[in-house]
Amino acid sequence: MAKFQTVFLCQSCGYQTPRWMGRCPDCGQWGSLLEERLASERHGGVRSGSSTARELPTPITAVDVRALHRISSGLAELDRVLGGGIVPGSFVLLSGDPGIGKSTLLLQASMQIAIREGTVLYVSGEESPEQTRSRGSRVGPLSDRLLLLAETSLQVILDQAERLRPKVLVIDSIQTIASEDLESPPGSFSQVREAAWRLMALAKDKGVSTIVIGHITKDGSIAGPKALEHMVDAVVFMEGEGHQVHRLLRTMKNRFGPTPEVGVLEMTDKGLRELENPSEVFLSQRPAGASGSIVIPTLEGSRPLLVELQALVAEPGTPIPRRVFNGVDGNRGALLLAVVEKRLGLRLSARDVYVNVVGGVRIGETAADLGLAAAVLSSARNLPLDPGLAVFGEIGLAGEIRAVPMAEQRIREAGHLGLSHCLIPRHNLERAQSAFSTVRVTGIRSLEELARELEPH
Ligand code: TYD
Ligand code: MG
Repeated sequence: MAKFQTVFLCQSCGYQTPRWMGRCPDCGQWGSLLEERLASERHGGVRSGSSTARELPTPITAVDVRALHRISSGLAELDRVLGGGIVPGSFVLLSGDPGIGKSTLLLQASMQIAIREGTVLYVSGEESPEQTRSRGSRVGPLSDRLLLLAETSLQVILDQAERLRPKVLVIDSIQTIASEDLESPPGSFSQVREAAWRLMALAKDKGVSTIVIGHITKDGSIAGPKALEHMVDAVVFMEGEGHQVHRLLRTMKNRFGPTPEVGVLEMTDKGLRELENPSEVFLSQRPAGASGSIVIPTLEGSRPLLVELQALVAEPGTPIPRRVFNGVDGNRGALLLAVVEKRLGLRLSARDVYVNVVGGVRIGETAADLGLAAAVLSSARNLPLDPGLAVFGEIGLAGEIRAVPMAEQRIREAGHLGLSHCLIPRHNLERAQSAFSTVRVTGIRSLEELARELEPH
C-alpha cells in the first residue's frame, strides 16, 4: 500500500494546496477545498507499462481512418451531438442535473447498441439490475448482449470490462465509483479523477468506447464534472426544465465533431423520443392574438430553432417590483429592460416584468435581444403582435440594433414553419433579404424603428 500525504484539493478545478483556504485561488470557488489523502505515488497517468505499437510515431498518410467507423447509438439526436455516432475508444462525459434523464438516455442507447452492434456493459452504482431491467422493458426491446453490473468498485469494473471487452461501456455514475487504493470517499475529486484515468486508459488501450455519467450538484463535496472536462474527448450536457418534457443535448467539447451542437428529445412514458421538427413543437401552443408573445429564430449549435418568448409586464404585486427571467440570462435581461425603458420611455422599473422562453429552452445568444424587447413592448402596451412575425437582432446600449451571425438560416427556418415576416438588423439585410421567397424581411436600425414596426398598420 502506498504512503499517504494530506493535501487540500479544490473539488471544482483540482487545485492543490498544503493548507486550507476559504476560497480556491485558482478558480475562485468558495468553500471548495477539502482535505484528502493522496497516495504519494500516482498511477502514472493515462498509460502505463511498455510502449505498444500505437505509441510509435506514424506517418500521417499511413494512419487508418477506417478506425473511425462510428457506432450508432440508435438515437439520431445523440449521434448528432457526438458528431455522427460514438467513436470507438472514445471517452465521453454526459452530465446534467439529477432526474433530467441521463440514465434513461444511456440505457436506451445501450439497448440499441446491444441489438445492432455487440456487447454493452452497463454499470450502475445507483440502481439495482432489477430497477434497470424494469426501466428497460418500458423503453424498448431487451437483448442478451446488454450486460448489467451493479457495482461501485473501480477494480471490479475494470476487471469485468477487460474480460468482456464490450463495444461500449456505460458508467452510471462516475460519482458512485471508488478505487480501493484511495481512502477518500466516492465522489471526491481524487476518486473521480482516479476512476476517470483508469477508465480512459482502458478506453484508449483496448478500444472500449466509454460513456460516463457525471452529476452536477451544488454541493461542493462532489467533484464537479468540470475537473473531468479537460480529460475527456467530448462533454455532452443534458438540459431541460424539470416539469417540461423537452430535453436538450448540448455538446460543449468534442474532439470528434463540431461544437456547439444541439440535439432535441422529448421525455415520454416510453423513454426519450426524437422530435421530427423541434421548432414546430416549440411553437405548437402559441396563444392566438395575445400580447407579449413573439417567435425568435435562435441558433442552437449549428441548428436554427424557432422558440417562443413571452413577456408579461404587470402592476407590481409587492413594493419592490419583481424581475423574473426564465430561459434568458438575468443580467442580460435587466440590461435590456433598462435600454428599452430609456429609449422608448416605457415605465418598466416601477412594474413587474416576467420573461419566459417556452419549452424549457435556454437561449444563450444576444440575437434574442430584439425578441425580448418586442415581447416586453407588446405586453407593456397591450399590443398583440402579428402571429406570422419573427424577430432577431442584438441590441446595444444606445438602443441600436446590431448584426448577428447566420441571418439567412434563421429566416429560412421561419419560412419553413410558415411565418411570413422577419424583423432583422439593418446590417444583416443586404445578404439575407431573399433568404426565403415567402418571407418578407424588414431591416431595422433602432428600438424606435422596432416600436414603429410593431404598431398596427
Ligand atoms: P433518469 O434517467 O433516472 O434521470 P437521471 O439519470 O438524469 O437522474 O430519469 C428520471 C426521470 O425520467 C424520472 O422522473 C422519470 C422519468 N421517466 C419518464 O418520464 N419516462 C420514462 O420512460 C423513464 C424511464 C423515466
Ligand atoms: Mg440516473
